[in-house]
Amino acid sequence: MSIEDEFGGSYTVRGRDFIDAGLVSSQIKKLLKDRGIPEDVVRKVAVVTFEAEVNIISYAEIGTINFHVDDRAVTIEAMDKGQGIPNVDLALVEGYSTADDTIRDMGFGAGMGLPNIKKFSDEFEITSIVGKGTTLKSVIRIPPE
Ligand SMILES: Nc1ncnc2c1ncn2[C@@H]1O[C@H](COP(=O)(O)OP(=O)(O)OP(=O)(O)O)[C@@H](O)[C@H]1O
Ligand SMILES: [Mg+2]
Repeated sequence: MSIEDEFGGSYTVRGRDFIDAGLVSSQIKKLLKDRGIPEDVVRKVAVVTFEAEVNIISYAEIGTINFHVDDRAVTIEAMDKGQGIPNVDLALVEGYSTADDTIRDMGFGAGMGLPNIKKFSDEFEITSIVGKGTTLKSVIRIPPE
C-alpha cells in the first residue's frame, strides 16, 4: 500500500441512540474488507469500534469515531463529550460496569467493552476528564505480507 492508498473516515455517534448501535462499526468493517485488509485485522477493528461506539451511546452525549488506515496499521480514535470516567483503571477491570437498566436491557453492561478494546489493540491509550468527556486511541498493526 502506497501513500495514495491511505484512507480513513469520521463518524458522529449520538448518546442514547441505541437504535443505531453498531452502524458505525459495521460501516468501517465493510470499508476495510472492501480494501482487502486482512480478516483478523478487520475483526479486531470491528470489536474496538463497536465497543467504543456502544460506550459513547451508553455514557456520553455526543462523540466522534475516526479511523485511518495505512500500510502498517489501522488507527482508531473515539472521543466524546459527556460525563467522563472518574477512575479509568477501574473502568478497565473486566466486569466493572456502571450500566443502568436501560443499557442492560439492550444486552450491554457486562463490563467487557474497554478490556476487550485493550486486548485487541497493539497500542491503547485512554484519557478522560470528569464532566468533559473521554478520548481513546487504539492502534491495530497490519502484519507484513
Ligand atoms: N465513553 C465513556 N464515557 C463515560 N463513561 C464510560 C465510557 N466508556 C466506558 N465508561 C465507563 O466505564 C465502564 C466500563 O466500560 P466497559 O465498556 O468496559 O463496560 P460496559 O459498557 O459497562 O459493559 P459492556 O461494554 O460489556 O457492554 C462503564 O460501565 C462506564 O462506567
Ligand atoms: Mg461498554
